[in-house]
Amino acid sequence: MRVLVLGGGGREHALCWAFAGSPLVSSVHCAPGNAGIEKAAIVHPVDISDPGSILDLAGTLSPDLVVIGPEAPLVAGAADVLRNRGFDVLGPGKEGAMLEGSKAFAKNFMSRHGVPTAGFDICENLEQAEKALLKREPPYVVKADGLAAGKGAFVIDSFMEARETCAGLLVKMFLGQSGKRVVIEDHLPGEELTVLVLTDGISFRILPTSQDHKRAFDGDKGPNTGGMGAYSPVPWADKPFMDRVIKKVIEPTVAGLKKDSIPFRGVLYFGLMVDPAGEVRVLEYNVRMGDPETQVVLPAFGGDLALLAACCARGSLKDAPCPGPSRTAVGVVLASGGYPGPYDCGFPLSGLDRAEMEDGTFIFHSGTARDGSGRLITSGGRVLTVVGTGEDIQAARSGAYRAIESIRFEGARFRSDIALKGGRSPWKDRSQE
Ligand code: AMP
Ligand code: GLY
Repeated sequence: MRVLVLGGGGREHALCWAFAGSPLVSSVHCAPGNAGIEKAAIVHPVDISDPGSILDLAGTLSPDLVVIGPEAPLVAGAADVLRNRGFDVLGPGKEGAMLEGSKAFAKNFMSRHGVPTAGFDICENLEQAEKALLKREPPYVVKADGLAAGKGAFVIDSFMEARETCAGLLVKMFLGQSGKRVVIEDHLPGEELTVLVLTDGISFRILPTSQDHKRAFDGDKGPNTGGMGAYSPVPWADKPFMDRVIKKVIEPTVAGLKKDSIPFRGVLYFGLMVDPAGEVRVLEYNVRMGDPETQVVLPAFGGDLALLAACCARGSLKDAPCPGPSRTAVGVVLASGGYPGPYDCGFPLSGLDRAEMEDGTFIFHSGTARDGSGRLITSGGRVLTVVGTGEDIQAARSGAYRAIESIRFEGARFRSDIALKGGRSPWKDRSQE
């Protein structure tokens, strides 16, 4: 198979790496890619926000499979454009992508199909938003309806600040059209869990579970980020627990898509909250793999992603084998100083070769580029995900942190507590279950 991956971050680097390792794959192409992806794929500097450019590239390469990494082209309908030209695509069309593209759409979908989620109100103006806030206790959860690159969800302690945030979204429109409507929902306690599922609209296959670390600083302090690190699999998400997730969350979602006549061949990302009683609720759907979850889920995965993705894209997922995880992976994000606020780019990176010499260590690039003389430099907020693998969390974790010690760039910052509480389940006492 010739595989084309669209996107240029750490997730796409991990996808290219996984495809390149499959015996079924003859070549991997990536657009626009980044300086690290060059090692795993042939990169093409194409603007993937333009459907015409994507079609031109696909026309030239004739890929057997196109995988769309980020949400923006999915929500814009890139998968439909490619499918209409006969390409097999992993990624839903515009309609299915609404599960991520509109939180109001996703919430109404969950209500309609009995998928457990936090109680909510959809507000079109400040008056409705105030009413929805007054019905609730702090902390308040306020979300922009549309895509906001991970910056559209707010968990706020004071009523005044929550009202200000609603006014900022609805009136001052600081997130543009994305905040034209807001969703205000009940705050849920517990531990978060990411479950990535491939579905062709009929069958589904579950990839290893993972847990992201969204806050900027150690101890889950500071502002939300795109994700500062992750690990996979999550030991407490055992078979009895996952059977409940399947029954309560995954099956009703796949059945709901069918009932609503929404075709879906792609990845469903379930962002779950698991409370101390073990109850599971969906915080959010995404319609693509997570970043940085993909960078740990794929190294942990014991199967062939190319086979699974191709079966999913062709609508024959029921024939695809999907073994469980074969090892544990811990990934730590190295970010630019200042991220998620303003940061500078263009700093040279060093020590990567040495870091990668460690057995079972992978470095996935998110924000790297080459300068005029071919030197590797930083080009984004999240720069690298450094992944260690091993028999358990402890082994994988020490591999990742050992590798990080070799890597240098000015202002580099990372969390030192990724996967530290990895073994701890959200429920108080498992023996009483
Ligand atoms: P979302 O974009 O909906 O995943 O929200 C981003 C983050 O905000 C989540 O990963 C949670 O950490 C937090 N969050 C979102 N919704 C809730 C909620 N209802 N209760 C508690 N925390 C939430
Ligand atoms: N890591 C969270 C996301 O990809 O949405």
